[in-house]
Amino acid sequence: MLNFAIETAREAGQILLEKFGKKIDIFFKGDINLVTEADLASEKLIIEKIRSYYPKHQILAEESGDSIAVVDGDKRWKWIIDPLDGTTNFAHGYPCFCVTIALERDGEIVVGATFDPTRGEMFSAEKGQGATLNNRQIRVSETEKLANALIVTGFPYNFKEKESFAKHLTDFLLHSRGVRRDGSAAIDMAYVACGRFDGFWEEGLNPWDVAAGKLFIEEAGGKITYYDGAPFSVYTPPICASNTLIHAEMLQVLA
Ligand code: IPD
Ligand code: CA
Ligand code: CA
Repeated sequence: MLNFAIETAREAGQILLEKFGKKIDIFFKGDINLVTEADLASEKLIIEKIRSYYPKHQILAEESGDSIAVVDGDKRWKWIIDPLDGTTNFAHGYPCFCVTIALERDGEIVVGATFDPTRGEMFSAEKGQGATLNNRQIRVSETEKLANALIVTGFPYNFKEKESFAKHLTDFLLHSRGVRRDGSAAIDMAYVACGRFDGFWEEGLNPWDVAAGKLFIEEAGGKITYYDGAPFSVYTPPICASNTLIHAEMLQVLA
């Protein structure tokens, strides 16, 4: 199933790359929340492939929602899919986006694949087997102090309603080496897993944004919790993820 996830993410990423930089249809899900024909084409391919290889498995896909539940299916298995994470970047020709696919078994993420087609980077993991980038084992960074850390975040689409967000951003800017905002939560988390970023926090994410990244970070030696340090579930934001070493300091900022 790991190979299936990897190959499917790669094929879907190829669809995104073919449409990237071309004039494509863009629709609005909210004031600033977009969906493009590339999201839809990528999701269609992924769902069709799952349907043909694993017809009994459940699927949670961003653009299709609950409409694709398999009524007599096997409830133990669920594929969680974001066919294009970083849609706003994609629509503006900014090359930071990916396909991200995870598989949940009995409520636990056991497989993940996140493919960035512009850099040809495939992040993948299987529960208990470590995480890889293009088949090479990855580890979180060894940065010990928040003051030396590069942190990444994302701005939720409803950030105007979230007063706490501006305070957290200011505090991380004051206490870390730098803060980045690249517009793809799945890439942000893959980068924490391979040590490019030391920590990540964000509110208002969905399961398809974080499912594969959670597995990568845990398999690569990192830590993920809520802002109060409680164990994280992909179904309920917010998220604080780190290389483990700076986690306590990050939680102090988010307290
Ligand atoms: C978004 C990206 C972004 C995050 C948003 C997500 P989308 O996903 O991951 O980084 O800040 O909260 O919704 O809409 O591009 O799939
Ligand atoms: Ca997303
Ligand atoms: Ca998306």
